[in-house]
Amino acid sequence: MIARGAMLGPDQPVIIHMLDIEPAMEALRGLKMELLDAALPLVQGVFVSTNVVEACKGVDIAVMLGGFPRKEGMERRDVISKNVSIYRAQASALQQYAAPNCKVLVVANPANTNALILKEVSSLPAKNITSLTRLDQNRAQALISDRLDVPVTDVKNVIVWGNHSSTQYPDVNHATVNTANGHRPVRELIADDYWLNREFITTVQQRGAAIIKARKLSSALSAASAACDHIRDWVHGTPKGTWVSMGVCSDGSYGVPPGLIYSFPVTCHKGEWSIVQGLKIDEFSRKKMDASVEELTGEKALAYSYLDP
Ligand code: LMR
Repeated sequence: MIARGAMLGPDQPVIIHMLDIEPAMEALRGLKMELLDAALPLVQGVFVSTNVVEACKGVDIAVMLGGFPRKEGMERRDVISKNVSIYRAQASALQQYAAPNCKVLVVANPANTNALILKEVSSLPAKNITSLTRLDQNRAQALISDRLDVPVTDVKNVIVWGNHSSTQYPDVNHATVNTANGHRPVRELIADDYWLNREFITTVQQRGAAIIKARKLSSALSAASAACDHIRDWVHGTPKGTWVSMGVCSDGSYGVPPGLIYSFPVTCHKGEWSIVQGLKIDEFSRKKMDASVEELTGEKALAYSYLDP
């Protein structure tokens, strides 16, 4: 997708750096061969390495897919403790060797807290560290499009608040659908509050788990596509009147504690994101948003317990 321009546009040549662990090196070499063999016009170089310093040299955009996978019998705290050391090494390489304004997108789970670790252990600017919730936003918009039988591109401004986990809150209160009579609120077109307040929310929250159950593997294509959407909008800007969801460092907006990496609605302009302000939050939404704050605060405390004082 990157090599075909889905991330940075059809006119932007790319040099792709791929980093993996030693046991994956042979497969990585094969992937490099394939990328070269595809003779893709945008690809100006493919570099593979198991050395984080080499891989980070000069990169403008870093998509962090690697994290310690949760294995049978492991607790969440075990994963977070392993990720603290992985992200510490990557943070140090990025801050020393990446391009000065390198933009970082964390995809690997627990994505918000991995991004938080990256922020805490590095001197990278907080505004350049984000985590992926566009996948959840895309899932939510696809569900609404399916329910109303309208093109997915007509559904706008569904928000995903919070953590990329089962406490996330997909919120349709400000979402609209483009119809022959203009943009109309989703809540007006779907007058089924039971569906919107329960089934819709739990389906989006549980979608990652449903995919793992069906595929015996985590989402791949939809996650890659969402990562491209995230970076494209961040770099090239969001269309007028449209916002997107990104895990970003909270400035205290909407009562979310400053410093947490929390998914907010944002607009992007000239490579900078800003949190959409002034949205009305009802009591139902407040409770859901707070539940995700609580979970992220717990994950942060856990991560901190593995960081040096
Ligand atoms: C997803 O949302 O598809 C993944 O984050 C699920 C997972 O735990 O890998």
